[in-house]
Amino acid sequence: MERQKGGMILMSSSGGVVGTPFIQVYSATKAYGFTLAEALWGELSEYGIDVMAVLPGNTIGQSFSDVPAGTPGFQTGAEVVQEAFEVFGTVPAMLAWDTSRETLSSMFPVEARMGYILKMKELISAVRDEHGSGSDAKP
Ligand SMILES: NC(=O)c1ccc[n+]([C@@H]2O[C@H](COP(=O)([O-])OP(=O)(O)OC[C@H]3O[C@@H](n4cnc5c(N)ncnc54)[C@H](OP(=O)(O)O)[C@@H]3O)[C@@H](O)[C@H]2O)c1
Repeated sequence: MERQKGGMILMSSSGGVVGTPFIQVYSATKAYGFTLAEALWGELSEYGIDVMAVLPGNTIGQSFSDVPAGTPGFQTGAEVVQEAFEVFGTVPAMLAWDTSRETLSSMFPVEARMGYILKMKELISAVRDEHGSGSDAKP
């Protein structure tokens, strides 16, 4: 914050967009990750710090390690990283992978969420300035 420059990427998951059976705790922690990133994005942009959550779909890594690259419905880690850096600094969260976007974009409307975050920031800042309260501690 002193340098007025920086960046942070939080790894979330498309499995955090909706509660997902059989991976309930994972799903809930991934929802935590993107809401944390969105809130920090709202707070820290004025300090020159970019924050973004990445929400991949099925990705070949230590999980799915026997799935060959190019298999429909799967993405490599390198592809996720490339997509993430293409939009880093412009959005607080991104759904990686076309199939996730097609399936989940209506449940995760990034631009509408950005609008809400900025509106809440304005509202809470105004209350804070007037009454010195209305939110968690300053960053
Ligand atoms: N794979 C998927 O389909 C998928 C889908 C959605 C979201 N995600 C999310 O994407 C992220 C990465 O998943 P992945 O599948 O790529 O996992 P992965 O292949 O198991 O890679 C995990 C990486 O994290 C490192 N790591 C683990 N514990 C660490 C620690 N305590 N400190 C520092 N580094 C540590 C590991 O290092 P070492 O190699 O040295 O052990 C490894 O490089 C996770 O947050 C996961 O929830 C994955």
